Parts: sequence; C-alpha cells; structure tokens
Amino acid sequence: MQIQPPTGGKPSGRDGAGQNAGPETSEQKRVSPVYVRLRAVMAAARYHGIDLDIRDFAAEPGEAAPSPASLVRWLRAQGAVAKGMRLRWRYIVKLGYTPPIVLLFRDGSAGLMVRSDPEKGIIWLRDPLKGEGEPPVPVDELRVRQLWTGDAVLIKRRSDESEADANFDIYWFAKMVMREKQGLRDIVFTSMVMSILQIFPALIVMQVIDRVVNYHSMATLVSLSGFIIILTLYEILLTYARQELTLVVTTRLDARISLHAFNRLLALPLEFYEREQVGEVLGRFAAIFKVRDFMTGQALNVILDAFVLLTILPVLFFMSSTLAWLTLLAAGGIGLIVVIMLPAMTRLSGKRVRAEMQRGATLYETIAGIRTVKTLALEATRQAEWDERVANVIRWRLASMRIANWSNTLVMPLNLFINRGVILIGAYLVITDSNTMQGGALTAFMMLGGRVAAPLVGLARLMETFNEVSVSLGEAGAVLNQPTETHALTHGMRPPIKGALSFSHVNFSYPGSTNKALADVNFEIPAGTMLGLVGRSGSGKSTITRLLQGVSRHYEGYLRLDGVDLREINLHYLRRSFGVVLQDNFLFRGTIQDNITAGRPGFTLEDVIRAARLAGAEEFIERMPAGYETWIEEGSTNISGGQRQRLAIARAVISDPKLMILDEATSALDPESEALVNANLKHLAKGRTMVIVSHRLSSLVDCDQIAVMDQGRAIDIGPHAVLLERCDVYRTLWHQQNRHLEERPAHDEAHQGEQPVGEA
Ligand SMILES: Nc1ncnc2c1ncn2[C@@H]1O[C@H](COP(=O)(O)OP(=O)(O)OP(=O)(O)O)[C@@H](O)[C@H]1O
Ligand SMILES: [Mg+2]
Repeated sequence: MQIQPPTGGKPSGRDGAGQNAGPETSEQKRVSPVYVRLRAVMAAARYHGIDLDIRDFAAEPGEAAPSPASLVRWLRAQGAVAKGMRLRWRYIVKLGYTPPIVLLFRDGSAGLMVRSDPEKGIIWLRDPLKGEGEPPVPVDELRVRQLWTGDAVLIKRRSDESEADANFDIYWFAKMVMREKQGLRDIVFTSMVMSILQIFPALIVMQVIDRVVNYHSMATLVSLSGFIIILTLYEILLTYARQELTLVVTTRLDARISLHAFNRLLALPLEFYEREQVGEVLGRFAAIFKVRDFMTGQALNVILDAFVLLTILPVLFFMSSTLAWLTLLAAGGIGLIVVIMLPAMTRLSGKRVRAEMQRGATLYETIAGIRTVKTLALEATRQAEWDERVANVIRWRLASMRIANWSNTLVMPLNLFINRGVILIGAYLVITDSNTMQGGALTAFMMLGGRVAAPLVGLARLMETFNEVSVSLGEAGAVLNQPTETHALTHGMRPPIKGALSFSHVNFSYPGSTNKALADVNFEIPAGTMLGLVGRSGSGKSTITRLLQGVSRHYEGYLRLDGVDLREINLHYLRRSFGVVLQDNFLFRGTIQDNITAGRPGFTLEDVIRAARLAGAEEFIERMPAGYETWIEEGSTNISGGQRQRLAIARAVISDPKLMILDEATSALDPESEALVNANLKHLAKGRTMVIVSHRLSSLVDCDQIAVMDQGRAIDIGPHAVLLERCDVYRTLWHQQNRHLEERPAHDEAHQGEQPVGEA
C-alpha cells in the first residue's frame, strides 16, 4: 500500500515524526484518510516520547486502511506498549482527561481523543494533522457514532525491563505459558473431570463382581450397563475437547515464542554475528524449539497426569490402604532411582547436545562454503571433520541412551510390582481376610493401580528430559541473551540529516583485540563532500565506515553527524540515512524490482527505474527478457558480478540517502563495469555526502577530499593534487599503482631509440 502525504511528493519524506505539521492545513482536502490515521498514531506515540517513522509502517497485504493489528505492530516495534481494542461510547465518555487515544474512523482516517465530559456527554477530539497547540474540538455521541468504527488504539511507553528484553530462561518460558491462563484452566478442568470419570468404571466393575456376579442380579447389571455407556460417551467427548484445547494453546504458545525469539535474533548487533559461527548460532537458536516442545508436550501431559494421580489416590486408599501404601512405596522407589541417576544423565545429555550442535555447525559451514570446498577439492578434509563430529555425537548419544536404559531397567521391577505384584498381595489379602478386601475391590484396584504408575514414571522421565531441556535452554540463551541493540534502535533523536561528518579523537579496537583499529582519528568534512578513503590493507578504512553506520558503537572520542553525536541518534534512523554498498552484496531471492526496493513500502516502478539509471543498471536490466520482473535466484547465480553490484547500488540509492558509503564496491568488477560505475559516481554524489573506499586510487582522483589511512591513523586529508605533493604514503601508493603510466613514455622512448638500431 502506498501512503500519500499531503504534499504529493515522495511517499515518506525524510522528516520523521511531527516536523511537518505546519503547511498542511490548507491542503487538507488532498490528504488521504490513511495518512491521517498514521499521523494520528504518530501524534499519540509522540505524547509518550516515542518518535515513529512513517516509513517503518508496513500494512498487511490487502488492507484498505491500516488495521489496529498492523498499527499495534508498528508501535510495538518502536518500543511502545500498544493495544487495539473495541471500546464503547459509555466507556470512553467517562475517561475525563486522558493521554491521546486513537479512535479509528469509518473513512479510514482517525481522531485523537484527549478529554471527555460524562455530564455533558461530549468528548474532545484533536486533529492529528494540527499541532498540539490547536484546541481540540468537542463532539457529541451522535456524531461520534457516525464517524467511529468502535476500534481504538491505546498507547503507552514501555518501562525498560519488559518481556521483550527479558532473558530467555525457564521463567520466561513459564511466564509465556502462564499467559495462556484461560486455555490452561479449561484444559486442567477437563482433565480433572476426565480423571474422575475414569474412576467410575473401576468402581462399577467392583460392584458388578461383588453384587451382580455373586448374587446373579440381572436388574443391577442392566442399570450399570446404561451408566457405563453414558460415562463412555462423556469420556469420548471430553477427550476430544481436551485435545482440541491443548492444540489451540500449544499453537498459540508456539507462535508467540517463535516471534519473540526471531525478534531477539534480529535485534542482536552485527558484531555478535561476526564473532560467532553462523552454524552454531543456528543450532543454538533451534534449541529453543526443543524447549517449546518440552513445555507444550511432555511437561503439559505430565502435569495433567498428576491430576489423575490426585483423584485416583484417595480412591485407592479407600479400596485398600495396604495396597495403596505398597503402590506408593514402589513409586517412591522409582523416583529415588531417577534422582540418583540424574547427575550422570545431566552430564551426558549436555555433552550430547553440544556434540549435536557442533555437527550442525560443520554441516552448515560445508554447505555455505560449498563453492570453496569444491574448487579447492576439500571434500576429503570436510568429510574427515564430519566423520569426527558424527562419531562424537554417536559416542555421547550411545552413552546417554545407555544410562537411560539402565535407569529404565532398574525402574522396571518396581513398575511391574505396581502392576502385578500388588495384585498377588491383594489376592492373598482377599483369601486370608475377606473383611479388609473383596474380589471386586481387587479387580478395581488392578484397573486403577496401573494409572498411578504411569504418571509417576512420566514424572521421573520428565526430570530426565528436563535436564536435556535446560542444557538446550542454556545454549539458546547464550545466543538470545546477548545484549541487543533494541534500546538504540527504538530510542534516540531523529534530527534532519544533511551529511557533515566530523571525527574527533576517535579511538577504537575490536572486541577481544588489543590492537587499535583506529587510533586518534581526526578530520571533518562538510555536507555534500565526496570523500575518498585510501590506505594499505588493514589500515582501518572499513572500520571508519562501520563506525559511521553504528555497527560498532564502543569507540572513544566523538563522531558527529551534522554536529550531533552519533550515539545520540536513533540507530534505525541513522542506518536508514545511509546507502551502503559493499564489495560483496547479498541479493534476496525475488525479482529485480523487489531487490531494488528491498521490500520497503512506498516505492513505485518509476522510483526503481530512476535508481537503476543512477546506478548504471538500467541498460542491462532492459536488455533482460523480463526486464524488472527478472527473477534472481538464490546467491544471485543468474546474473554477473558486475550486474549484481550495480543492482546493489540501485538498492542503496533508491531511498535517496543523504549519505552513501561505497566500500570497495567496484573492486570485484571488470574494468568496463567499473568504468561504468565510476562514471556515474559524480551523478550519484550529487546532493549527498559520499564516502568511497577504494584500492584503486585512480578512481578517487575526482574526490573533493581524500583521507589517507595508515595503521589506524588518518595521517592526511586533502584533494588528490595536494596529497600527491605533501603526503609520502599517498605518493608511494599512487606511484605503485600508476608506474605503468609514468614508465610507458620512458619505455616508448627507449623503444624508439632502439628501433633505428634494429632497422640498421
Ligand atoms: N571484525 C573484526 N574483528 C577484529 N578485528 C578486526 C575486525 N575487522 C577488522 N579488524 C582489524 O581491524 C584493523 C582494520 O581493519 P579494516 O577492515 O578497517 O581495514 P581496511 O583498511 O578496510 O582493510 P582492507 O583494505 O583490507 O579492506 C585490521 O587490523 C583488522 O585486522
Ligand atoms: Mg576494508
């Protein structure tokens, strides 16, 4: 969906929130209702100190006007607590003075309710497009009913320690489960009813044997049969209901956990991913699904079975306390065995989980690097590594399974005793002393006793699995509980950006490294500068661009953008103000057009074509049979490196960023493509600040300023001609690369000199 701002220009503008409330009023007729709705939400969020960017809003497909759900998602992503609700007039008119509530109107727009008067039956609405200074307008019930759909969005600022930032641990999971209170309550209720229903058949059998069989009473048999049929029907229905309820609850839980975990993954800083092996991160992330399976499968079942225990035990005691005690004793023995075996099991299952993760990492690495593996014929080494990993997994799995087998075997006699031994003792009791127990009770005990053993053994098993799960949880936590960028992404200023940059006394080393990647860097450039960065490999050029984008934020000194400390700026906003092209760019699967817009809303085909033209990509795209609809395969295998690079430039430039970074963007290109891109650089640079890192100095000759980096220091900055004169490092680099230019004339002369000799 496209959002039309009142001025009709580009869809979103760079103005962020609430800065262009002025000139719109005269043009209100042209404003689309959808835009008004978004502005209403932005104004309400602003009241709580949350600045929203209209470009972050993503409508759901097929939505005519932003639904409460998509508005809430937008708000939550920016750190607000938001809730879409259906409210009644009765309720809102009682509120009095209130933080702005967004009332969604039927025409797709919205109003901001700021106050109400229950006596007079009036609420006050503020125009979302007008500033806060404008007085709100009083509206009565009749008018509100005409306008309002009944939907409202409530917004609040999130207190910092919230669920989204909470650590992923067993408490977090438990809290998630508890949020399904209502569903869980129903499940527990049906389970309890079911376990009570399960007792009756046993009691009835007891009656049948004692009365019907012993006294040949046909009438009792008939009525008991009817009773049993009814009970059976109930039990079937309840089983169905419980299964259905469990399904709903677990599915909802599943969705919520997956969502949260993925959000967390996205909020982790780039630095984290650079430090960690991707394969291991994936493995660890997958571990949370083990936890989820456990929580919603086994754990839930065991808890439900425990209810069965609660209802059945009293009945067992009622039938025969001796047998009941024996059963409990045996069950206690089972518990004891499991507890004793537990430490060994924990150790082994931990080793197993870790071995499995390493195996996953090797698999991932091999597949991701398959090109290198094949071209360097590394199959044998990879195979060897894989074999070792697999052997490791097998060893620990065998060991942990073996110990599980041992504990099962030890438990088995007790388990069998509950099922069979108790019966024999019961039979003995019946024979020797028929006052304490009768044949019917014994049979009933036989039917119910087995049900005691199952939950108890389940409980013991649960502890076994719980171990494995807590190891998994630890692994997942090692990834997901890393400090995130959430705060920086959702807080901070969104100043209008022009593009002046200044570094003052910037020092930086990468985490875990003692060497300074940047050492006391000082320079500044005005907005609109085309800045070249040169220097030997490892001199800190890419590091400079990383600091600019806020990838690494733990530097000393000050880095300012238009005079504002970079750390004060909202990270989302900052990164969006940059267009970045690297040496190796990732294109997503999809059409060329999709790749240029990269899924950002609000771009038309014209925007795409304009960007492609700027990037020098228009010509080759149009030559393709499907043009902008050409499908790009995974890993962009069906286009050339040069084409991919130009698409990446188009993707970076389409949002018209005020700052652009090209880090070795053309070094992998053939001379022709490089010349094409370089010829466009001047065009690209118009109206923005460009930072170009390149090994080929000749492509930087036209830069306004060139900064020379050496071992993390910016040793000089100036235009090409000046540097050539005064900077030794630059001169050396230049001469190294352009020796052929200088030598050719000399060479040619020598050649010419030789010629006559040869001819002679
Ligand atoms: N992710 C990282 N972790 C640790 N050290 C790093 C990391 N990236 C770079 N470095 C180190 O920081 C220093 C500067 O690296 P940087 O990537 O900025 O150099 P560069 O000038 O861009 O080099 P090149 O021209 O080869 O791209 C180097 O010594 C490098 O070893
Ligand atoms: Mg680099």
